[in-house]
Amino acid sequence: MTNSEIGELYTQHVMRTYRPLPVAFVRGQGCRVWDAEGREYLDFVAGITVMAVGHSHPKVVEAVQRQAAQIVHTSNLYLIEPQARLAERLTSLSFADECFFCNSGTEANEAALKLARKWAGRQQPERGRGIIAAHKSFHGRTLGALSATGQDKYQKAFEPLLPGFAYVPFGDLGALGSALTEDICAVVLEPIQAEGGVNVPADDYLPAVRELCTDRGALLVLDEVQTGLGRTGRWFGHEHWGITPDVMTLAKALGSGLPIGACLATSAAAVFEPGDHAATFGGNHLCCSAALATLDVMEEEGLVARAGERGALLRSLLEERLGSHPAFREVRGKGLLLALVIDPEYRKAGEVQSGALAEGLVLNAMGDDRLRLAPPLVVSEEECHRAVDVIVRCLS
Ligand SMILES: Cc1ncc(COP(=O)(O)O)c(C=O)c1O
Repeated sequence: MTNSEIGELYTQHVMRTYRPLPVAFVRGQGCRVWDAEGREYLDFVAGITVMAVGHSHPKVVEAVQRQAAQIVHTSNLYLIEPQARLAERLTSLSFADECFFCNSGTEANEAALKLARKWAGRQQPERGRGIIAAHKSFHGRTLGALSATGQDKYQKAFEPLLPGFAYVPFGDLGALGSALTEDICAVVLEPIQAEGGVNVPADDYLPAVRELCTDRGALLVLDEVQTGLGRTGRWFGHEHWGITPDVMTLAKALGSGLPIGACLATSAAAVFEPGDHAATFGGNHLCCSAALATLDVMEEEGLVARAGERGALLRSLLEERLGSHPAFREVRGKGLLLALVIDPEYRKAGEVQSGALAEGLVLNAMGDDRLRLAPPLVVSEEECHRAVDVIVRCLS
């Protein structure tokens, strides 16, 4: 089928929850993808930070093929070896002692919210069950995760949401201090707000949030769905600030495109008991094997450090080439989670996105004034140069 034939089927039969660009990618390799008509593109979106090890990495492909031929799924009614091994691996990479597996970032956050409320009831029965989240956060679209997502544009049509949520401006310690009362059992934050525009907090924010949570007896839940697993140049975003949370959620890059999410917690916070929470597909053989192979590749190829290096290169190229351009405002982010902020009066981000696509570069416009740059962590120096050439041309 051609791109436009696929588009026509969409118009007729797919619910309009997205407004897809008129291109269908049918094959991928590393940082490159090809559309239904055989045209090649450089992918600087990576399935929204999912394809960290690149498209169709041979080690991931081999692991998935081998596992699919052996056994795909049984149930959490039985032991699952790849799940046990993945839990061991993730806990050894992080602060956490235990993991719960599910199918997405949203679900990982649902698990974290339930965990926080159960923890509050068990550890401190007199404590409230309120949860603080940040304005401009994004934690997902199910009703629990949506209640934690501090953005009217996502919430309004679906009210009433869950009770007990309060919102504070991201980065405002005073506001958090005032809101963090006995009624609150958890604070939920992204270390860097991703969907909200790639907002990096000031250096003292997260350490102070950690201290406040500890002093006031609330859990710190960090949503690392987008920032986790090497994307920012550290295994987990919070490492940039030398802190650890009590609970952390992961998804996106974990399964290299196979649907898997995880909620990780310290043993003190991991209070779920049989029957409290579950997911039919969560942690099945296939997705966990994909995740184990993904982590192997990240370690073997040194992709966490590579994300830091390539991110620094990309940032400096953008600043050098565009610093004095009338449309340039700033480059924000860490590692390979970057946003180029531009003046929408000069050129709208959507126009740059379309122009780049026509030139064979996949970018993601976030609103009118910024473009997200989040290539696979295997991106080469030459590919960074090539992408910046296209961006400079399209902006001008
Ligand atoms: C920080 C963060 N949390 C949660 C989610 C939701 O994840 P998913 O789409 O896998 O449910 C996203 C998705 O963009 C995200 O960026």
